[in-house]
Amino acid sequence: MHQRTVENSHPDHTHNMVKPIIAPSILSGDFGDLGRDSQQMLDRRADWLHVDVMDGHFVPNLSFGALVIKGLRNKIPKGQAFFDCHMMVSNPSQWVEDVAKAGGDQYTFHYEATDEPEKVIQQIKATGMRAAMAIKPNTPVDVVYPLADKLDMVLVMTVEPGFGGQSFMHDMMEKVTKLRQKFPNLDIEVDGGLGPDTIDTAANAGANVIVAGTSVYKAQDPEQVMDLMRSSVANAIKAA
Ligand code: DX5
Ligand code: ZN
Repeated sequence: MHQRTVENSHPDHTHNMVKPIIAPSILSGDFGDLGRDSQQMLDRRADWLHVDVMDGHFVPNLSFGALVIKGLRNKIPKGQAFFDCHMMVSNPSQWVEDVAKAGGDQYTFHYEATDEPEKVIQQIKATGMRAAMAIKPNTPVDVVYPLADKLDMVLVMTVEPGFGGQSFMHDMMEKVTKLRQKFPNLDIEVDGGLGPDTIDTAANAGANVIVAGTSVYKAQDPEQVMDLMRSSVANAIKAA
């Protein structure tokens, strides 16, 4: 079994070199046995677990909340897996404490869900979690610029949030390219439709954190798919 170490580094956008991180989305897992499913992904060298929280209001789908994250954390102790919590919720402030107590490592709120992104960032950091911000496909990337120095990661959605199994939106890559140019050492995550067919496009644009649901969970050999995507990102970083 491969053990992963959790890095809870502070944002240091001048000295960190970004690393490839593959984060399978448990949304595509078996909700009857998320603990076993997640452990299998970790055994196959998943770098992070991507945890999709949906409130049925910010997105037209319901998934689960902090109680389920806590249950998962009880099976997979802190330090053995980094929980990358993607909060598709209308009131991001409301769940920060709960997710921190449940064992979340990073809290990604949506820019579209708040009028006070800086406050949410501060609130997240006060708990010790890493703070990240996501933008939906119709949100311009410029909104990120004034906040980037305070963020540990930016998530550029490559589908409309709410469901797995949708097609990758290639035109989102312009946002990733611009972000990478401005912030060479920022973690940039992409989420939606990532797999062997789309990874090179995302990696070459500058994404280093790759969320994948369908392509990993439905694969005959999930480890091979994750390895392939990790290599693609590593090669793009080397070539940059
Ligand atoms: C969609 C979620 C994604 C989803 C990705 O709203 O944020 O994390 O699980 O699934 P795939 O990889 O199947 O597009
Ligand atoms: Zn997600």
